[in-house]
Amino acid sequence: MKQLRLKITADGSSTIYNEKIDENYHSIHGALQESMHVFIDKGLLNSLNKTFKNENLKILEIGWGTGLNCALTYFNSTDSKIKIEYHGIEPFPVADNLIAKLNFSFNNSEQEFFKALHQLSWNKNHFINSSFSLTKHESTFENFNSLEQFDLIYFDAFAPRKQPELWLKNIFEKIYGLLRADGSLVTYCAKGQVRRDLEAVGLSVERLDGPTGKREMIRATKNI
Ligand SMILES: C[S@@+](CC[C@H](N)C(=O)[O-])C[C@H]1O[C@@H](n2cnc3c(N)ncnc32)[C@H](O)[C@@H]1O
Repeated sequence: MKQLRLKITADGSSTIYNEKIDENYHSIHGALQESMHVFIDKGLLNSLNKTFKNENLKILEIGWGTGLNCALTYFNSTDSKIKIEYHGIEPFPVADNLIAKLNFSFNNSEQEFFKALHQLSWNKNHFINSSFSLTKHESTFENFNSLEQFDLIYFDAFAPRKQPELWLKNIFEKIYGLLRADGSLVTYCAKGQVRRDLEAVGLSVERLDGPTGKREMIRATKNI
């Protein structure tokens, strides 16, 4: 897409700017620090702590984009001995030439891994190794159907003012159905209406400290 271009954020890591909707893929206060805080520290590590060694952790990312959250999930879970099944949903895959320009301060082997993630075909399950599998679904979330349920959902859509259709109650109802008992959604957004709508569909909402540049974020859990 011609409307996408590279941008550097405050921690030196890259993001992508979408000209059409005038929105960045990550926080301008630092893409890497935002992903690490919201999705890894408050999402992945919290869920890994609740998972027994012989269980799988199933993760669904809504808005796979650059694949940053997926790569960070792999790097931060390899010591856990817990098997991860990762599903990423993305209707507009980013072109390879733009992916090649992204800098997330990865070391050489991490960068090779990141590159390999992008070379995997879409809509097919890939075993990266015996403890990590990835399926990249080329689809909108609205059109995504699954009989599976997930332990953790990374909700990384564009902000509500830019993409209001993904922050509606019917979307959160679908998310509720896709979560396993005790499963959680994490998102960078802490808007009051979003919190109320998540609660209205039956999720328990926690307001957590946000990443740099944001006061709060949300973790919403299916407590049944
Ligand atoms: C804020 S960016 C997040 C990107 C990504 N998580 C990353 O770390 O690079 C939002 C992403 O949602 C994708 N997206 C747009 N419409 C969508 C939809 N209807 N369903 C799922 N994803 C969508 C965009 O193409 C974009 O990649």
